[in-house]
Amino acid sequence: MKFLHVLAAIAWLGGIGFMLFALRPAATATLSPPERLMLTAQALKRFFTLVWVTIVILLLTGLAMLMAVGMKNAPAGWHAMLGIGLVMFALFGHLYFGPFRRLQLAVGKTDWAEGTRRAGQIATLATVNLGLGVLAIAAVYFLV
Ligand code: HEM
Repeated sequence: MKFLHVLAAIAWLGGIGFMLFALRPAATATLSPPERLMLTAQALKRFFTLVWVTIVILLLTGLAMLMAVGMKNAPAGWHAMLGIGLVMFALFGHLYFGPFRRLQLAVGKTDWAEGTRRAGQIATLATVNLGLGVLAIAAVYFLV
């Protein structure tokens, strides 16, 4: 359970790190807005499919580990991870059905100003989720 759980966490957080710190700045430095936004929408579409899979795995394996011990006996860090994890899932749902859908619509309408704004919102929400992910892992390690 923990093996699958950790693999899913690495895939999600590693993917956010790659998008934010490698692909986004590289695309901004080298591509014009239309090319950059079309690349961003296509890359995010593929990455977000993976994120939905990681969310299902994190939730199922996380709950299985919690239930095996029982909520009452679980350390504080596990409760914190459940809480932070649920916030991360909600934030991703908002990001996906809000700014990401709007980014796709903007690209379809070749509205590059709107697309740039939506890509910025996605980057902000993804940064928050990366921070929350680090907090969730820190909670499991340091809150006993
Ligand atoms: C609601 C969802 C979640 C639940 C119920 C949950 C629950 C748990 C539990 C019970 C453990 C085992 C801790 C231990 O054995 O000491 C664990 C470990 C872990 N979780 Fe979660 N988790 C959730 C979400 C997340 C998220 C969103 C991430 C990061 C993206 C994450 C990353 C990790 C990692 C890296 C570990 C391994 C820590 C270690 O080495 O012991 N989890 N989680």
